[in-house]
Amino acid sequence: MVTCMNRQPHVAVVGATGAVGIEMIKTLEKRQFPVRKLTLLASTRSVGKKLKFRGTELAVQELKKDSFAGVEIALFSAGGSISKEFAPLAARAGCVVIDNSSAFRMDDAVPLVIPEINAEDVKWHKGIIANPNCTTAITLMALYPLHKAFGCRRIFASSYQAVSGTGAKAIAELERQVGQIVKGQPVTREVYPHQIAFNVLPHVDSFLPTGYTKEEMKMQNEGRKIMHHPTFKASVTCVRVPVYRAHSVAVSAEFERPVTLPAAVAALREAPGLQVIDEPAKNQYPLPLYQAERYDCAVGRLRLDCALDNGLCFWVSGDQLLKGAALNAVQIGEELLGQSRLESTAGRKPAMAVA
Ligand SMILES: NC(=O)c1ccc[n+]([C@@H]2O[C@H](COP(=O)([O-])OP(=O)(O)OC[C@H]3O[C@@H](n4cnc5c(N)ncnc54)[C@H](OP(=O)(O)O)[C@@H]3O)[C@@H](O)[C@H]2O)c1
Repeated sequence: MVTCMNRQPHVAVVGATGAVGIEMIKTLEKRQFPVRKLTLLASTRSVGKKLKFRGTELAVQELKKDSFAGVEIALFSAGGSISKEFAPLAARAGCVVIDNSSAFRMDDAVPLVIPEINAEDVKWHKGIIANPNCTTAITLMALYPLHKAFGCRRIFASSYQAVSGTGAKAIAELERQVGQIVKGQPVTREVYPHQIAFNVLPHVDSFLPTGYTKEEMKMQNEGRKIMHHPTFKASVTCVRVPVYRAHSVAVSAEFERPVTLPAAVAALREAPGLQVIDEPAKNQYPLPLYQAERYDCAVGRLRLDCALDNGLCFWVSGDQLLKGAALNAVQIGEELLGQSRLESTAGRKPAMAVA
């Protein structure tokens, strides 16, 4: 492990003006991450733009090869090509990179970490640590405690992914299209291949020769690495929905050992960072609208699967800008500093709808 580090590090956020970057800055502040100095980096388009951190306006600087002198932790969220070019440079300059893109996730020399699951993997980093895919992270928050209890063989899942998962431009696209439709104007498209307002698109990321998309295969590939479970199988359909924020996933999971509902609920209730909201008779189940801007993910609609042996169905929802990106990255930073804050959700108020 690259030894880390000053207990009050100089932190850089690469992609500071993006959907994830903005949340990283807020999360560093809200969790009182012991930042000594914060450097905000983005493209030339954003140079001079001011963003607030702890009440002070900081100017965004252009990302350059020499941007990392003196930086100890760099949170990257500016896309895969930027990570591929600049993360190794930053690591060579002596800083630890926590990367949100898919560039290094499946690299054997790079740990891929969800602190609630495999925090110990942070220890073998060589300068770069990868943050998982957002849909995978939210699914595993519920699946891993069940895997520990019953041994997961495989899952079948469909995702319901918010537009903010595609970044700031996609949030603007949904907003604009809703306005155009309400005003009876023609709908314009820039980000997605079809209208997203009042529609759902069974298409997230690019298609592979198998017919799955890259996003769909991340669940199996990244799930194996994070859970240390090399035979885990996942057949997934990823769907973009006109929700601003928070992804949801409907999962049917098959286990090695028999599952009972009370044992499943007990395993999920003990899991850090996860709340159980499962009172169908009162219309209480996790909803992306109420999971938005919350650190915890939520699981509900628990039932024994009627089509699988040792099977359990569940619905998990979580803010992908937080647990799928900014929060997870800051939590990795906390692990690096030896300041782990993996909390049980017991006693925390769940995000329930008023029926
Ligand atoms: N959105 C999510 O829920 C989510 C979840 C997990 C992981 N991620 C990953 O996080 C990364 C960012 O996603 P996002 O949703 O935040 O995207 P976004 O809203 O489009 O933001 C992109 C950021 O990258 C910066 N950037 C673009 N080109 C650059 C360049 N040439 N040099 C320096 N900075 C540059 C942009 O700066 P300007 O403003 O100056 O253009 C902006 O700050 C992606 O790799 C994505 O896959 C996203």
